[in-house]
Amino acid sequence: MTRARLVVLVSGAGSNLQALIDATADPAYGAEVVAVGADRDGIEGLARAERSGIATFAQRVGDHGSRAEWDAALAERVASYRPDLVVLAGFMKLVGDDFLAAFGGRTVNTHPALSPAFPGMHGPRDALEYGVKVTGATLFVVDAGVDTGAIVAQTVVPVADDDTTETLHERIKVAERAMLVDTVGRMAREGFRVEGRRVRFGRFASADESH
Ligand code: GRF
Repeated sequence: MTRARLVVLVSGAGSNLQALIDATADPAYGAEVVAVGADRDGIEGLARAERSGIATFAQRVGDHGSRAEWDAALAERVASYRPDLVVLAGFMKLVGDDFLAAFGGRTVNTHPALSPAFPGMHGPRDALEYGVKVTGATLFVVDAGVDTGAIVAQTVVPVADDDTTETLHERIKVAERAMLVDTVGRMAREGFRVEGRRVRFGRFASADESH
């Protein structure tokens, strides 16, 4: 079986990345991480990739004349690794038009809330403040909005009475990692198709947008 080529983009600790790296140790998983990119240097996510012998790169917005130039450079760099699927795993930047032109429909992002509730940078905090009794994480196909793309998978966790943002986010991240590994593996092995807001697994002979 040919393994799907993954490029993973990170901005921080990279525990989701690590879960993917660990899963790809089994050839039957169906995917390999061919490169890890970031929007900053010196983060644990990049160090994790280096320790596993995976190619890394950083594209910092500040090194480019504009956000659009950064986005084009990021897209070009990612393209050089010929990914089948791009995984944003704690990547704290919105990708732009050039990136979406190149990788739209085959870029997924993980968000620590149950979409469409609580989009944006503070999903766990916003869920806690709202008082919901369950929250979770959402894997979605990236579009031009903020955490608005078609949903591939969701996982639910309870909110405890004594939770802080930190304890809640940690509980979410345990479930989030499992969801990410399971779902990316299925996407790699089974293929998938985006039909409007619905994402379906499986290979479909005649559809251009099938992966
Ligand atoms: C994850 O919860 C992700 O959804 C959020 O930031 C966290 C990243 O964690 N955007 P890590 O870097 O994978 O450990």
